[in-house]
Amino acid sequence: MNICFIIDKWESLNPAEDSSLRLIHEAVVRGHNVGITYPNNLTIRHGIAYGFIHKIIKQDKYSASFPIFHSKLKFSEQMLPLAGFDAIFLRQDPPLDPIMLNFLDSVKDDTFIVNDIDGLRKANNKLYPASFHDPKGDIIPITHVSKSKDFLKKVIEESEHDKMILKPLDGFGGSGVIVIETRAKQNINSLLDFYISGKNTESNYVILQEFVEGAEKGDTRVLMLNGEAIGAYKRVPGDDDMRSNMKVGASAHKHVMTKKEKLICKKVGPKLVADGLYFVGLDIISGKLIEINVVSPGGITRINKFNRVKIQKQVIDFIENVIHTKELAINKKRAFKRLIEDA
Ligand SMILES: Nc1ncnc2c1ncn2[C@@H]1O[C@H](COP(=O)(O)OP(=O)(O)O)[C@@H](O)[C@H]1O
Ligand SMILES: [Mg+2]
Repeated sequence: MNICFIIDKWESLNPAEDSSLRLIHEAVVRGHNVGITYPNNLTIRHGIAYGFIHKIIKQDKYSASFPIFHSKLKFSEQMLPLAGFDAIFLRQDPPLDPIMLNFLDSVKDDTFIVNDIDGLRKANNKLYPASFHDPKGDIIPITHVSKSKDFLKKVIEESEHDKMILKPLDGFGGSGVIVIETRAKQNINSLLDFYISGKNTESNYVILQEFVEGAEKGDTRVLMLNGEAIGAYKRVPGDDDMRSNMKVGASAHKHVMTKKEKLICKKVGPKLVADGLYFVGLDIISGKLIEINVVSPGGITRINKFNRVKIQKQVIDFIENVIHTKELAINKKRAFKRLIEDA
């Protein structure tokens, strides 16, 4: 099989922690033809989408040590047609590059893209969880989204709670997520101005959300593959923060999923698959789904360490199965066509 990984700069990957490196390692060890590339390496020539690909040069054996694997791997650089890959795995850290998706539009019927690019377009902001029907707020925190300062002020004024969460619609890595005291009226005008006006000429949507109690004890990151949970771990915020993002200093811990967390996975799994979101990370606090991370979710290394597993094997198994099923269908069609032609 030919697999392409669109990643962050190879040299910038941290071999001790990087999830993409585990996936690449597994694909290479299984003998697949693996190429890596970067979003700005995509090219169109005579209407055909190519990538400047660093194709991994095959070796008889690959080190099981990730730092050695990372530093010793050799590549040959070539301009190759993207449609020649059976699968393309998008593994660049957010924010998602929308132009990259346009490049991939032309090959989406020729290659299996994880995650599906239309699914990514649909789910690449914090509005996506709202598309799960949950009128009573059983699994999704009560959420308000608007650009209207007056509306948001009214929501805050009418809130029965002391605190709420304020965050940008398209943030990531914990950026801009703050707790507001609903009674601290003198700050709210200025905060809303700042979040709505931002740095751009266009105004921004802002999320006001129920503060989910228990956030200080951490959130659960669940990795979902093809609609099912394949592993989870806990992220606990540092002493001087309420955000559970690893990027802002949270610590990782072993976690056994609760009944409620499993229920959430069961509820969201089928829609994730229907939207082509095959490999995603859920963030859950106290049984409420806070976020669905569809762009290169991390956590493989930590889940592996805490549970003594290698969940990258399941991910590559899944890709192999999809490609195998597609090939069977193509071969069957070819054989049937031949029967008719020769009849
Ligand atoms: N409604 C909420 N209640 C409590 N804590 C929250 C809430 N929303 C976000 N947080 C905290 O902030 C972190 C980052 O928020 P999240 O919505 O996941 O955005 P990001 O994309 O930046 O990770 C969460 O992991 C959680 O610790
Ligand atoms: Mg998050």
